[in-house]
Amino acid sequence: MKKIGVAVLVSGGGTNLQAIIDAGKAGKLPSCELRAVISSRPDAYALERAAKAGIGSYTVSRKDCPSQEEFERRIAAVIDGAGAEIVVLAGFMCILSADFTRKYSGRIINVHPSLIPSFCGKGFYGLKVHEAALGYGVKVTGATVHFVNEIPDGGRIIMQKAVAVRKNDTPEILQKRVMKQAEWKILPASLELVCSELLEREEKENG
Ligand code: GRF
Repeated sequence: MKKIGVAVLVSGGGTNLQAIIDAGKAGKLPSCELRAVISSRPDAYALERAAKAGIGSYTVSRKDCPSQEEFERRIAAVIDGAGAEIVVLAGFMCILSADFTRKYSGRIINVHPSLIPSFCGKGFYGLKVHEAALGYGVKVTGATVHFVNEIPDGGRIIMQKAVAVRKNDTPEILQKRVMKQAEWKILPASLELVCSELLEREEKENG
């Protein structure tokens, strides 16, 4: 049975990448095959997680590239060279241009640590999202997996999961709970959903 090749783009610790690796090992990603992990930083711990799991890992650093175009050309070369059809942004901290998101239209997914459309868009990343949620006083937050288009956090929503905010939460405590209860669950589940739908589409097209 054919599987859909997947490339994961990371910049940091890679706990979401780990959730995908673990889901794969547990047999929960029958439609996907992890083909490449691409980091924007050479020191990202995510690269070690990829190596341990036997996945090809690559570093493409923005500052080593003369232009955004070249940065994206190098990333695309790895994705395409690895035969990946779906791209996952799992804590990838670099901006991707509209040219790039158009090239992989309907094929890039991202995990965002809030219930979109709350606390999302330009400037809402990392702890800032949880600081904003606590500052606003929401009692429920969560995570969203969505397709990526040229609007930051603006693409079609694939899955969401709500997480309760507790009385003495700090941004750090809330961030951990959102990851554990939501991100690490809905990212692998969304990936399998998107890959299985793509497989079905390809099977239909090929008769
Ligand atoms: C996660 O909170 C994710 O929602 C955001 O960046 C963080 C990445 O963490 N986009 P990790 O590198 O997967 O541990």
